[in-house]
Amino acid sequence: MFCIVLKFVLCLYRENILTMTTIIKTNDLTFHFHGKQNAVNELNLSVPEGSIYGFLGPNGAGKSTTIRMLAGLLRPASGSIEMFDKSFKKAKSAILRRSAYMIEEPTLYKHLTGRQNIELICKSGGYDAKRIDEVLDWVHLSDDKNRKAGNYSMGMKQRLGIAGALLPDPDLFVLDEPTNGLDPQGMYEIRELIVDLNKKYGKTIFISSHLLGEIEKMCTHVGIIHHGKGIFEGSIQELADVNKSVKLFRIETLQMEKANEVLSAFENLKKVDENTLEVQPKDKEQQYQIIASLVNAGVEFTQAYEVKNSLEELFIQVTEN
Ligand SMILES: Nc1ncnc2c1ncn2[C@@H]1O[C@H](COP(=O)(O)OP(=O)(O)O)[C@@H](O)[C@H]1O
Ligand SMILES: [Mg+2]
Repeated sequence: MFCIVLKFVLCLYRENILTMTTIIKTNDLTFHFHGKQNAVNELNLSVPEGSIYGFLGPNGAGKSTTIRMLAGLLRPASGSIEMFDKSFKKAKSAILRRSAYMIEEPTLYKHLTGRQNIELICKSGGYDAKRIDEVLDWVHLSDDKNRKAGNYSMGMKQRLGIAGALLPDPDLFVLDEPTNGLDPQGMYEIRELIVDLNKKYGKTIFISSHLLGEIEKMCTHVGIIHHGKGIFEGSIQELADVNKSVKLFRIETLQMEKANEVLSAFENLKKVDENTLEVQPKDKEQQYQIIASLVNAGVEFTQAYEVKNSLEELFIQVTEN
């Protein structure tokens, strides 16, 4: 009996059910710069262990300000942060020992080789020298480690910066828009690397971006911030579900009575104003059917358009930025 119970517990452990914790949790986190309105406004984030968490929002949304608070560089005006199940206020140094941050472009010495740059960081941080080649390998720079960093591509420089941040072997890695300013190849390399660090080495990753496409390609979880407020949090699947959710379709016509009669065959018919009717088509195909039935019945309409839900509108804004 004991064996069976033990096996069950081990199985849960392996499945990450018993070990699953929240690595970052913010409770109504708020910050404002002097004399300004809240840059971060009662933000609640929950980052699961082992996730690649995409922190998505347009420019000026409050991503960097949040990350600076998570790194202890800014003090919250109100609310609190817990990391590794500990209060950030009370256990700051223990938390920072388990976390690495890449907030700004890494400072690199161009005249030194990639390896020499890492050696310098290793010495000044007092880390184990054995880690130097390990982290260079992690970021796929082993073959180029003896080349001058000044001759590296933008993506390679960024990867070298990541290698430096990984020297203390953190459990959590926080990156603020690491693909900013990179060409598509550089962006691809960073994405591959992030997924690798997560899958191969078990790191929890918190990464900000203003590009929905970037987040969709690599993240398991997403939090969206807009004007300092959290407006969505969930798995990447939940995000896709919201985005797919049924859209409304509106028709503007001067022949309301006739249109109303034809459209009564469709779901959720509603009068929006004197000249506008709204229906809820199941899919694109049904949208065409709606238009076809109006045309067949000889109803003249001036416009037919989709009404986007507010989250979708935000996605467009976020993606286009
Ligand atoms: N040092 C600062 N002084 C005053 N306002 C700032 C400062 N840094 C950022 N802000 C403002 O705070 C808000 C959030 O900025 P930020 O966190 O940098 O956004 P994001 O990283 O999402 O682009 C913006 O309105 C920005 O103008
Ligand atoms: Mg920023």
